[in-house]
Amino acid sequence: MSKFKVYITRRIPDTGLDLLNGHCDVTSWEEDEAIPNEEILKHVSGINGLLCMLTDNIDKEVIEKAGPSLKVITTMSVGYEHIDIEECRRRGILVANTPNVSTDSVAELTLSLLLLTARRLIEGVDSVKSGHWGPWKPMWLCGVELTGRTVGILGLGRIGCGVAKRVRPFGISRILYNDICEVSYAGDVGAEFTDFDTMIKESDVVIICCNLSEATKHKFNKDTFKKMKKTAILINSGRGGVVQHDDLYDALTSGEIYAAGLDVTEPEPLPHDHPLVGLTNCIILPHMGSNTWDSRNHMAEIAAKNILSVMNGEVPYGLVK
Ligand code: DGY
Repeated sequence: MSKFKVYITRRIPDTGLDLLNGHCDVTSWEEDEAIPNEEILKHVSGINGLLCMLTDNIDKEVIEKAGPSLKVITTMSVGYEHIDIEECRRRGILVANTPNVSTDSVAELTLSLLLLTARRLIEGVDSVKSGHWGPWKPMWLCGVELTGRTVGILGLGRIGCGVAKRVRPFGISRILYNDICEVSYAGDVGAEFTDFDTMIKESDVVIICCNLSEATKHKFNKDTFKKMKKTAILINSGRGGVVQHDDLYDALTSGEIYAAGLDVTEPEPLPHDHPLVGLTNCIILPHMGSNTWDSRNHMAEIAAKNILSVMNGEVPYGLVK
């Protein structure tokens, strides 16, 4: 019997590759840079499994090109908005992701970004490097404390909960959350459900931990920023498309909100001459929430196991329902 044919759209850690190489006929795009979609189209015909990244556009054309042999698409990410889920459903192709294994890394990064932003740490580091650190001044580079503040979290999934748990020890007074519905485990992290408007009006820090969907696309726009506190800090480690970036620029420059920290942007990469990049009250990271070796190795392993499960007629761990 011929081996399960798998195409991998990037160089991935050996934790995943070794698992697949042992059981499947594997071909890969052997580079760290994103594969152009024309290249994907050249390699997918007749494959049984596709292991892709969040930067690949797995649209109807790719799925059609792969043909009826395609049984499973796994992405080495939590987000799966780059895969045409509807087309997969129509054709009976299983779609899987890598949940759980990057929860801690993304939650840790989100907290780091919040502290960087609230305490103006990048400005501090820059002042030392550029020789602008002069004698101590009482009102220089003052930021805001988290103690006693209210934190609002949009999306109380695994990462949202991880963020809530980590922010609590900073002496936060309340954690509010908004999601598509109330969740049973919110009490475990001391989070209270509110409607979206109440959350953004009452929070000193608003943290976006949700995915991108029709419901969340540009949910933070000029109307939202008007309702937020002038002292509010916005943190986004979910998806860039949840925030309307031109409106964010206006809100940050007009003083409608105090500061923002973004680990995700729209587009990615954000051009280095984008107006937001030049602002001192906006810290932008290059989508590095899950960039730890622990997470990456586990993500590659889970993605490979998703494929092997389908090959063996089992339900993949990361099945997208
Ligand atoms: C994910 O997994 O979706 C992250 O955004 C990238 O690691």
